[in-house]
Amino acid sequence: MLRTALINNQRSAFLRAARASFVCSSRPRCAFISTSPPHPSQSSNAEPPIASSSQLTKPGAVSTVPTMVRGDWVLFHPVYTPEEMKAVKVLHREAKTIPDKLAYGLVRLARYGFDLVSGYKHKETPPGTTMTVEQLRKEGYLLDEGGWLNRILFLETIAGVPGMVAATLRHLTSLRLMRRDSGWIHTCLEEAENERMHLMTFMTLRDSSIWFRALILGAQGVFYNLFFLAYLVSPRTCHRFVGHLEEEAVLTYTRCIADLEAGRIPEWTDKPAPEIAIDYWRLPSDAKLLDVIYAVRSDETTHRFVNHSLANLNVKTDVNPFALREPDMYVKGNTIAFERSEAEKYVNESHSIMKEVKEKATSV
Ligand SMILES: [Fe+2]
Ligand SMILES: [Fe+2]
Repeated sequence: MLRTALINNQRSAFLRAARASFVCSSRPRCAFISTSPPHPSQSSNAEPPIASSSQLTKPGAVSTVPTMVRGDWVLFHPVYTPEEMKAVKVLHREAKTIPDKLAYGLVRLARYGFDLVSGYKHKETPPGTTMTVEQLRKEGYLLDEGGWLNRILFLETIAGVPGMVAATLRHLTSLRLMRRDSGWIHTCLEEAENERMHLMTFMTLRDSSIWFRALILGAQGVFYNLFFLAYLVSPRTCHRFVGHLEEEAVLTYTRCIADLEAGRIPEWTDKPAPEIAIDYWRLPSDAKLLDVIYAVRSDETTHRFVNHSLANLNVKTDVNPFALREPDMYVKGNTIAFERSEAEKYVNESHSIMKEVKEKATSV
């Protein structure tokens, strides 16, 4: 039924219009604009050509897009209102089947191993304590700025892997079997890029040492290959694994926000948001790092919801309910996932919206 619904749709300008109107509804700045600089011959006001060596070779650059160009130089991603960013709950999906228990067990094991290696142990601050931030850090109750960055940077380098592996394998399956993908590839690619944008944002706060980079190299080599093999065997369990991984990410960023708001990361109090983050999440120009972390947590909540929902579907035949639009954060932040029947209802609603858009477009 779900598959039939997809096949009957036409992913054309009408779909993109429906989707764009959904994305833009929360932020007027979310206009789709060209990111290509004009060709000098097209405009008398064009900037004088700059030496290609300085434009193209920027080893430390986040992007080579000229700074005066702002817009969608990235894939689709949700943009949140300030209220949506606060509408996030720390949630956990109880594992009932054996594969689901295996996926959750692996996430717990990974978290335990990472906490052990990084020397992190979450300890609740004693109620009514008079200890200073320095003392709390010394006693192991709080992470300092460097500790938070180590944790975030390492985890974001790993978090960008599953979406790319899933997209690659589904892409190859579609080519090999000459059959449609049912809309999963784009969502997986969007997740991978979204995670990479988290990394691009936080890496502007600190340059990493060669040892840290070596650690990431090793971790990526192991994790990419393991996840690749696991996805060949059971894509559904892999999406469940990512869903649980994202539960941990939401928890980590929620603790980070709590510490920051309580003045326990003084180095980040009133720290301005990096420019790349202002552009990506359409934040106000005076946004702070705290606003960025709220936006990142919302993204992790999206990944939690999307992956748990995908894991509830038939990965071979069902359409991806998020191929055309996504629920807002009031849904994703308060619900762990769509069950299969809810996904079907959502797909049907999407088709009604698209039909309406198409009718409006043809009547103009
Ligand atoms: Fe992330
Ligand atoms: Fe994530």
